Amino acid sequence: MIETILTRAPVRDLGTPAAVSTEMISLTIDGYEVTVPVGTSLMRAAAENGVNIPKLCATDSLEPFGSCRLCLVEIEGRRGYPASCTTPAEAGMVVRTQSAQLQEIRKGVMELYISDHPLDCLTCPANGKCELQDMAGVTGLREVRYGYEGSNHLALKKDESNPYFTFDSAKCIVCNRCVRACEETQGTFALTISGRGFEARVSAGQNEAFMESECVSCGACVEACPTATLTEKSVIWLGQAEHKVTTTCAYCGVGCSLDAEMKGNQVVRMVPTKDGKANEGHACVKGRFAWGYATHKDRILKPMIRAKITDPWREVSWDEALDYAASEFKRIQAKYGQDSIGGIVSSRCTNEEGYLVQKLVRAAFGNNNVDTCARVCHSPTGYGLKTTLGESAGTQTFKSVEQSDVILVIGANPTDGHPVFASRMKKRLRQGARLIVIDPRRIDLVKSPHIRATHHLQLRPGTNVAMVTALAHVVVTEGLMAEDFIAERCEPHAFEQWKAFVAKAENSPEATEVITGVPAADVRAAARLFASGGNGAIFYGLGVTEHAQGSTAVMGIANLAMATGNVGREGVGVNPLRGQNNVQGSCDIGSFPHELPGYRHVADTTVRTLFEQAWGVPLQAEPGLRIPNMFEAAMDGSFMGLYCQGEDIVQSDPNTQHVTAALEAMECIVVQDIFLNETAKYAHVLLPGSSFLEKDGTFTNAERRISRVRKVMPPKAGYADWEVTMALSNRLGYQMNYRHPSEIMDEIARLTPTFAGVSYARLEQLGSIQWPCNEAAPEGTPTMHVDQFVRGKGRFIITEYVATDEKVTRRYPLILTTGRILSQYNVGAQTRRTENVRWHAEDRLEMHPHDAQERGIEDGQWVGVHSRAGETVLRALVTERMQPGVVYTTFHFPESGANVITTDNSDWATNCPEYKVTAVQVMHVQQQSDWQLEYARFNERQLSLAESLP
Ligand code: SF4
Ligand code: SF4
Ligand code: SF4
Ligand code: FES
Repeated sequence: MIETILTRAPVRDLGTPAAVSTEMISLTIDGYEVTVPVGTSLMRAAAENGVNIPKLCATDSLEPFGSCRLCLVEIEGRRGYPASCTTPAEAGMVVRTQSAQLQEIRKGVMELYISDHPLDCLTCPANGKCELQDMAGVTGLREVRYGYEGSNHLALKKDESNPYFTFDSAKCIVCNRCVRACEETQGTFALTISGRGFEARVSAGQNEAFMESECVSCGACVEACPTATLTEKSVIWLGQAEHKVTTTCAYCGVGCSLDAEMKGNQVVRMVPTKDGKANEGHACVKGRFAWGYATHKDRILKPMIRAKITDPWREVSWDEALDYAASEFKRIQAKYGQDSIGGIVSSRCTNEEGYLVQKLVRAAFGNNNVDTCARVCHSPTGYGLKTTLGESAGTQTFKSVEQSDVILVIGANPTDGHPVFASRMKKRLRQGARLIVIDPRRIDLVKSPHIRATHHLQLRPGTNVAMVTALAHVVVTEGLMAEDFIAERCEPHAFEQWKAFVAKAENSPEATEVITGVPAADVRAAARLFASGGNGAIFYGLGVTEHAQGSTAVMGIANLAMATGNVGREGVGVNPLRGQNNVQGSCDIGSFPHELPGYRHVADTTVRTLFEQAWGVPLQAEPGLRIPNMFEAAMDGSFMGLYCQGEDIVQSDPNTQHVTAALEAMECIVVQDIFLNETAKYAHVLLPGSSFLEKDGTFTNAERRISRVRKVMPPKAGYADWEVTMALSNRLGYQMNYRHPSEIMDEIARLTPTFAGVSYARLEQLGSIQWPCNEAAPEGTPTMHVDQFVRGKGRFIITEYVATDEKVTRRYPLILTTGRILSQYNVGAQTRRTENVRWHAEDRLEMHPHDAQERGIEDGQWVGVHSRAGETVLRALVTERMQPGVVYTTFHFPESGANVITTDNSDWATNCPEYKVTAVQVMHVQQQSDWQLEYARFNERQLSLAESLP
């Protein structure tokens, strides 16, 4: 059992990045012989051997710049004093880092800096953590001979426009670290140094305020700044932290490792962990800055119950709430049968919490009615990759992109949805890798600073399968296949069938042009590039899965990767970009109705027997209800109770009216959440949830990387979510007695072969682990399918294109597709309660100028969006990012009702909703839709029922 706070020593800054060469050289530094890889700077060679050369403009996360002249050294046989940060070590060099002369030069440099610096160290927010201050100490600066009477920068005004950090130009030493961080680490190029010499100053954009510039508030510049010039506002308010705890971001599937810097129970700031393998010291505006929701006044901190949703909430003790929930579930099962209740696992909660919810459903409820929100995002990934490759997960590490030569991004918008991975990908693209984007919208990656996609195949929504098959057609018919790979690694019969299928003329780019809308020549050129351009890696997102043929498209992607031999080594692979932080994990630990942990079917007697013995109860052999089936069963009167942990199905699931009607038909809904979310407004029992800061556990990111989530403060409502599930189970008569989440992980590892080697002790040791982790791979598996596929031979699957039933007509002539934006996250429950609303305060409807003009719509006007399912009203955003005929919106705000208009069409294999294709009409309107007016009334009523608490 692990109960201590893990505090870590700071990781040393070695001055310049590590060299990659395997060739070693030896030299002498301060009389000691040192051996380093070729390409290592003198500064790093010294630092790796314990000698810290003074520095200001160098830091090991950035390429050296050589501007401050503080790191000068002496080299025998060379004249002058070269900068150690920009001078590569050479074999046989004899280097001195300290001498009286060097001391004088460094003092002189520092004296110049300090003579133009406000000497308010005692009240400066960086006091105690300022590299300028440190260097003044290190160089032995004792007096400053130049006064402030000359020209200086001390009166420059602060830029406080960014909600999370300030820019105090008076403290800037023009070291350029922020500019390089924005370019190299983040890839946004928002900062410049304007002017020369004394006039040189850092500025955002063209001398704009940060909030007016291209800055995306990732914080990399703040991290890189050696002075207080760029400082988090939280540090200015609270002062420096006194300890730090390493944990994992609770937003997207990149799973960045973050150090929560704390003062007691209070978070002072979040700093991306330098040696975090998913992010390597970078973060985005959500993970780094948007953590304030955890202490927001809207947090639900007391359990509440009510008999009907029209009754006021009654605040009760934990005991009363849990007794009531258990008695209701028992009553419902007695009246309607064992299968009349179920549960929903959250993809935002930890693996351990998800495991307990599915165990509660299977062992305590006695059925398999458990599902997760992956149903509505990546369930086709599970199905498609399992069928073709044998494992329901991405094949690579994020780092592997550094070895890619051609990157194919399809149905994903990484700069908004997976920003830290996007920065790593952009770095590789700036180094020369080629990019193919397949997306209906002109996403930022298509053209951004120093990046331009070689091909943007701007297809019509709903035609991915035709596109992917057309790419395969070119590969097959032009002889671009990886024949040896296929012969050695794939099932021959399935391959021959597939080959004959894709080679048909009807699958050619020329024949499918009419379906996809993409010129055949572009498709041919993209296919040739992907097949013959070196290491080809495919990254895809919900733009692939959330379709009527989502699973088919995933299999088409796997086919393409196998046909070109792009699986099983670094730089290639099939990589689903998972949306929420723990979508991968929630699927792994058995939250689908047909699968026990480790993706093993409930009908498999051997597996079921293993769990029956471990859990001490008989388990059903039939799959339970998926989320959409639960709604249907509720409408039929056979599904009457639901335990919903950390999900907001009313806002996130399609066809809102259908969802709410189903919830209204149920007799007991238990919602466990940190806020009174949209689903909680239909609930009878509200159990306060705990944020990621308040509990221990693990998340699994899109790379299959299991990382620790560590408690940095006690649960605000008294219990972590896993403790609440356990208490509910015990009241239902099924005993759970874990003392710590590590014991839950031990149980998962005992029962799941791919997790067999995972334990909290191992995670402490290795930092993070990519599953499978077992006897064969005790340190985890960074790249999958290396020598053979998990299923043995890779299986090509025929991917016949079937047009969606959702057709454009004269009445609904446009296609609506949906997605995310950088500053907001999913249903927005967390990010809407942070300053991130400053970037995105409402969902807008993006439309092409041609479509807008045809309808007399101007930018910013209210527009009604009608579909066969419903109607809502949003403000228009007229933009050429869209193609004519396609409109787009996000779904971060409940009052927008984006899912009022999406239909309940779904993927043929997994029921994943077809969010990405809804036929709509758009017109200029003056007032909100009927649904919105009704929503406003209902919302107000529900808030008043919660406000009437004592
Ligand atoms: S916050 Fe990020 S995007 Fe903005 S200027 Fe700094 S590094 Fe660039
Ligand atoms: S803002 Fe900070 S990092 Fe940027 S140049 Fe000034 S001192 Fe250096
Ligand atoms: S990229 Fe994703 S995981 Fe990383 S900080 Fe941003 S939201 Fe968090
Ligand atoms: S640290 Fe080398 S020149 Fe600044």
